Amino acid sequence: EMDLKGRSFLKLKDFTPEEILYLVDLAQELKEKRKQGIKGDSLKGKNIALIFEKPSTRTRCAFTIGAQDEGGTATYLAGSELQLGEKESIEDTARVLGRMFDGIEFRGFDHEFVEALAAYSGVPVWNGLTDQWHPTQVLATFLTLKENFGYLKGLKLVYLGDGRNNVANSLLVGCTKVGVNIAVAAPKRLWPDEELVKECEEYAKAAGSTIEVTDKLDVVEGADILYTDVWFSMGEEKKEQERTKLALPYQVNTELMKKTGKDTTIFSHCLPANKGKEVTEEVFESEKSKVFDEAENRLHTIKAIMVATLGNR
Ligand code: CP
Ligand code: NVA
Repeated sequence: EMDLKGRSFLKLKDFTPEEILYLVDLAQELKEKRKQGIKGDSLKGKNIALIFEKPSTRTRCAFTIGAQDEGGTATYLAGSELQLGEKESIEDTARVLGRMFDGIEFRGFDHEFVEALAAYSGVPVWNGLTDQWHPTQVLATFLTLKENFGYLKGLKLVYLGDGRNNVANSLLVGCTKVGVNIAVAAPKRLWPDEELVKECEEYAKAAGSTIEVTDKLDVVEGADILYTDVWFSMGEEKKEQERTKLALPYQVNTELMKKTGKDTTIFSHCLPANKGKEVTEEVFESEKSKVFDEAENRLHTIKAIMVATLGNR
């Protein structure tokens, strides 16, 4: 049994492949139990803060229901209604919340904020998305892949569109750590950071898998999953037009799904989606689309993170 008690979950770089896979397995176990109507009590008596500087449907609900299913209490705190970073420093806010709460989820802009919360609160802190990383999303992608294919190592994931956003960054780290072959297909201006790619090449080498960054769509050949995300993330609304022009050739449509050469290829997306932009309505609504399975899997994987780092087991 893996011991993650007391750990924060800020970015996948902080976790070993074994730890990441353990969380996916635990999520699968919790999902099966929930389907049988069995709920746990591992978060009984735990008070959990959910701080959101940006909007959320899935992440907020997953933390809320996940805590509730295990006997914990979640309190939503709108970032704009705290003193956060304006009237009060993040370090002081962290020390206050740490005196009252047993665990803290944070979604916001600056990744350094969530790191500071973890450093100063003295309780486990979970990253519900920052400009740089969206680590909980990748666990949901992995659970979805496992459910569809039965395994992860050796699968091929192709991510298309904005190769520099939080979801792309986290998929790069997660996939290369656990041995899912990953390719990013994007216009050159939206390629991932070179330093990050170098680091991920090392992870891939250790896992015996591959990482590729290209502007060619031929890379989808042999893909088990095509994955995409919005072309402009929360906080980047001003970039909509420019990004749409740049990324349009990387839209996931039926023709691209066929180009993989496999009839088993699935499609997924972290959601919310801009249908007709990064993915066509046709692919989104097709049998191959697993977007709502992945959305549900946010609950089970986020619950697993809370149970593993905070739960009485
Ligand atoms: N995928 C995801 O994080 O969704 P929300 O923004 O709705 O939480
Ligand atoms: N990249 C998107 C993900 C939303 C879940 C954003 O940051 O807005």
